[in-house]
Amino acid sequence: MATYDLILKGGTVFTPAGPATADIGVRKGRIVSIGSLGNLVAERMLDCTGLHILPGVIDTQVHFREPGLEHKEDLASGSLAAVKGGVTAVFEMPNTKPSTANPEALTEKITRARGRMWCDHAFYMGATAENADHLADYEMTPGCCGVKVFMGASTGDLLVWDDPTLARVLASGTRRVAIHAEDETRLRERVAMALPGQPGTHPVWRDDISAIMATKRVVALARAAKRRIHVLHVTTLEELEFLSQNKDIVSVELTPQHLTLAAPDCYARLGTFAQMNPPIRDEVQRAGLWHWLGQGVADVIGSDHAPHTIEEKQKPYPNSPAGMPGVQTLLPLLLTHVAAGRMTLAQLVALTSAGANRLFGLISKGFIAAGYDADFSVVDLQKTWTVTSDWLASRCGWSPFEGDVMTGKPVGTIIRGNVVMWEDDVIGTPLGAPLRFAETLRSS
Ligand code: DOR
Repeated sequence: MATYDLILKGGTVFTPAGPATADIGVRKGRIVSIGSLGNLVAERMLDCTGLHILPGVIDTQVHFREPGLEHKEDLASGSLAAVKGGVTAVFEMPNTKPSTANPEALTEKITRARGRMWCDHAFYMGATAENADHLADYEMTPGCCGVKVFMGASTGDLLVWDDPTLARVLASGTRRVAIHAEDETRLRERVAMALPGQPGTHPVWRDDISAIMATKRVVALARAAKRRIHVLHVTTLEELEFLSQNKDIVSVELTPQHLTLAAPDCYARLGTFAQMNPPIRDEVQRAGLWHWLGQGVADVIGSDHAPHTIEEKQKPYPNSPAGMPGVQTLLPLLLTHVAAGRMTLAQLVALTSAGANRLFGLISKGFIAAGYDADFSVVDLQKTWTVTSDWLASRCGWSPFEGDVMTGKPVGTIIRGNVVMWEDDVIGTPLGAPLRFAETLRSS
């Protein structure tokens, strides 16, 4: 008779075929069976009656600040926030101190993560003018999810702003390259439009044209290089319309912030705490993001979790740093959008787990299917609750969504068969492991 280490009993399970009431049997960290397991018992039984079991949410854009900026966040605190919010795996960004711009720096992050990170993880390699010709080798580092390019300056000093260097980056290597698309030349020309003390001018300075200019440039360069790219945190409907015509080589990320907040209200309410790059834009742009999400143009939703301390964010604009935390509120916000009828649960699942598998060739992650890792985000779709500061785990100590009422709550986070979070309690010790990718199978 089959034996299991864990059985999730009676939940609504979101398999690739859609939702169905089923039990899930887990052995050695893997999904072994999905269906009715009758009276079988396992070492651990979880009653999931009334709950939905989603594939583990993969947040493909977080900044966890270690090494060098641990006063804002570190790998332990950031990943704790992740699992409290139902996230089972993260892709972490290279704008730390030092930047992650060579294999040694990336391997150092993997080493630091061992025994300290609560969720599974991969790290981006930052592109620079200096390392551009080495990226074909560098991107194969075990635990690397790919190369990241900042076309416009943001937090940190990573920047590849000019076409010749961008072309070198895109010519070196084969994996999908993630792009922060804001046109640095235009940003420099317009910097005086960021008016002191007026964070509402942030989207005037870093305007929609800065975004579409960079996006058009990088798509042309990617096409010339025959290279797949991933445009991060897209903020304008012009970009999405353009990207919808280039889906053969381009994938698209949206963020919950840009789907949820809008100018001028967010700057009036939150001031510099709403400041991020690329900026939160107006209602017309937000509606455009929802329109194109509905058209299927978005591939993933990532949080762009970018914590800064309250003290730093309180500096007068524009000396205040750009970015807001979000890894813990990603799933609650999207469940709330599902409850409000703005998206379906199937879209949520596609954008937070299956999409990451498809774009990045993640091994054993992203679906509830036999043979896959037993990674689950267990949610209560009905639960109405309020985001409070005592629930938040990020070291930065704040969220732009504090005080907001959510409908739908992460109840459990299960990673490779380990129940890491249940009803807000974090359980056990940090067991996060590096993610594996089809393209680096040999090196991992
Ligand atoms: O707002 C942002 N903050 N955008 C970025 O591109 C970087 C991030 C950060 O690291 O603070």
